Amino acid sequence: MTPPVFELQDLSYHYQQQQALDSLSLRIEAGCRVALLGANGSGKSTLLRLLNGLYFAQQGRLLAFGEELSEAALAEDERHYAFRRRVGLVFQNPDVQLFNPTVFDELAFGPLQLGWPPATIRSAIADMLQRFGISHLQDRAPHRLSGGERKRVALASVLIMQPEVLLLDEPTAALDPHSQGEVIRFLLDSKDSGRTIITATHDLDSVADIADHVFVLAAGRLVASGSPAEILADHALLQRTHLLHAHPHRHADGVVHSHPHQHGHGHQHAGAVSGYRYYPVRRKPSS
Ligand SMILES: Nc1ncnc2c1ncn2[C@@H]1O[C@H](COP(=O)(O)OP(=O)(O)OP(=O)(O)O)[C@@H](O)[C@H]1O
Ligand SMILES: [Mg+2]
Repeated sequence: MTPPVFELQDLSYHYQQQQALDSLSLRIEAGCRVALLGANGSGKSTLLRLLNGLYFAQQGRLLAFGEELSEAALAEDERHYAFRRRVGLVFQNPDVQLFNPTVFDELAFGPLQLGWPPATIRSAIADMLQRFGISHLQDRAPHRLSGGERKRVALASVLIMQPEVLLLDEPTAALDPHSQGEVIRFLLDSKDSGRTIITATHDLDSVADIADHVFVLAAGRLVASGSPAEILADHALLQRTHLLHAHPHRHADGVVHSHPHQHGHGHQHAGAVSGYRYYPVRRKPSS
């Protein structure tokens, strides 16, 4: 039987005084697309860094591919490289990730390390540049690009390696709607690819498209686990974990009040006139 890609057993992690993950236990099976939901500071990025072997469990255990992922285990070169080949992380902040002189070099870096033939590297880069609409940026310095351009380069530089396990930290944040669509399309297309994809996000709108399973974190603890449909239907949970918001607004009948609601284009509120209904917030640029 294939072991889960990741298994956390009572895992805790803290930064100096700050507890970031608190007795987390969960399993992620191979080929599953998982969304990690949680408010700011709930521990999503910390968890992804642990899953990527950048930080290590301080209490409890983290197993990756059935074996303990510890500092000692990754200290061996062979295991380190094998793990890095299998698992790729796209950081929330692309600046942490980009270090090459040009966008082209950034995309070539991983494939060169793995010794791909030059012609394969060139065509894979052309493919990625086109997919993310960044062909015109290939000779530019990554650190001189806009935030969204940098994010697209960071995504492309990890996706080009086609890692078996992909960790994405808010991959659509800072992207314009077209590029968001490209990322979501990629995640949709990956549904049956066998690849395991773990995405940290606040975007409830895309969860059903990008995930088969959802974990909700609050203050470093796992507070819910279920299918996208189950989690999205639990408005009390989403409100409690700050994934729904309410702000005052005026309805067509002139009534001004606050409730969590859906933002469609043009700011329509179905059922508004009769007063009060809960909707998962669906964040759109118009909001
Ligand atoms: N480098 C750090 N030093 C100290 N505390 C940190 C550090 N990074 C994160 N924290 C703290 O750890 C907790 C979890 O942070 P984390 O970045 O994992 O949250 P997050 O869910 O990714 O939040 P966001 O939605 O804002 O990206 C928070 O309380 C945060 O303040
Ligand atoms: Mg984060």
